[in-house]
Amino acid sequence: MKIRAISLALMFAATAAWGAKAREEPIEPIAPAVVTNPAKVELGKKLFFEPRLSMSGIISCNTCHNLSRGGTDNLKTSIGHRWQAGPVNAPTVLNSSLAIAQFWDGRAADLKEQAAGPIQAGVEMAMPHTLALDVLQSIPGYVNEFEKVFGSAGIDMDRVTSAIAAFEETLVTPNSRFDKWLLGDDKALTADELAGYKIFKDSGCVACHNGAAAGGTSYQRMGVVRPYVSTSPVEGRYAVTGNDADRFNFKVPTLRNVEMTYPYFHDGEARTLEEATDIMGQLQLGRYYKEDEIAKIVAFLKTLTGEQPQITVPILPPSSNATPRPDPFK
Ligand code: HEC
Ligand code: HEC
Repeated sequence: MKIRAISLALMFAATAAWGAKAREEPIEPIAPAVVTNPAKVELGKKLFFEPRLSMSGIISCNTCHNLSRGGTDNLKTSIGHRWQAGPVNAPTVLNSSLAIAQFWDGRAADLKEQAAGPIQAGVEMAMPHTLALDVLQSIPGYVNEFEKVFGSAGIDMDRVTSAIAAFEETLVTPNSRFDKWLLGDDKALTADELAGYKIFKDSGCVACHNGAAAGGTSYQRMGVVRPYVSTSPVEGRYAVTGNDADRFNFKVPTLRNVEMTYPYFHDGEARTLEEATDIMGQLQLGRYYKEDEIAKIVAFLKTLTGEQPQITVPILPPSSNATPRPDPFK
């Protein structure tokens, strides 16, 4: 609860900055992205959509974090190189810059550190970093663009991941109806949606789902009141710290755009928001909601869908004769 008190204090300070009419609530509005280096963001966008960063030549970050679909693949668990199934559900990249750390278990400190993982991961893009850099270096369009963005010649993983992170930082979703309500627009929510938020807040969902992303501010146990039964082998934060107390602790996922990011939970076992809400009530709070209470909470959750980033599909520079060719079956 100490963490909660601190984050609430920070939140109120942040909310105050939005003006006198803003409501003081445990969930804050999302601020629009401030782009300070548009050329770097544009390069990062290209790399996010770049399938040549994968061994197969067809998998990009956008394959699993599809920006047409709320930044996810909507699969139970992701499918990567050679149709291999990964162990966990892909979290959205939308608003992920707002979280304390990256991945379900928080093993990457930030977006830049995170971006190095999937390129090399065998079940994702299966591309050794040295080969990924060889590919980029063989493409004149990229050689020029990296030089322009970073002010000197050269392409390395540090530059690649820093550009991808700069793009991801722009993937925020402000102006949801809930944010409009937070900022003082009384008509932004219906009576049922507001009633749903009241249940959500009063029954204690906000103890974990708080801050601008309605999540991402802490690690919490999945199954507080009652254990969660899963066939998935992952053990959450324990994999990072080795502390028994961290077993089955996961980074609390954001609830922003949650109507688009189904299925739910680290194992993708909950297919609907109704199911996820029912399980959360029982396992985290010992609450058995009635059907109409669940309907109202879900109505509220859907007001967290914000303006999706408007992406112009980037045109990627062509390979040269020297570019290493993809190997889909390696
Ligand atoms: C094959 C599917 C796949 C591909 C390709 C992929 N990811 Fe992911 N991504 C996942 C999965 C699954 C996770 C969750 C893994 C975990 O937590 O252990 C994840 C986690 C993340 C996260 C953390 C989000 C959070 O809330 O913790 C970010 C950010 C991310 N990926 C960005 C990227 C970027 C950038 C690329 C391209 C370089 C990429 N991903 C490629 C499936 C994929
Ligand atoms: C004790 C902390 C805690 C409380 C209280 C809590 N949650 Fe969660 N919530 C979590 C954690 C941790 C996860 C991720 C669990 C997992 O994936 O195994 C989660 C996941 C979710 C998800 C799925 C999101 C996704 O993208 O997979 C939804 C929806 C959700 N919670 C809604 C609620 C609602 C509604 C309430 C109140 C009834 C609530 N939560 C109360 C910690 C909490």
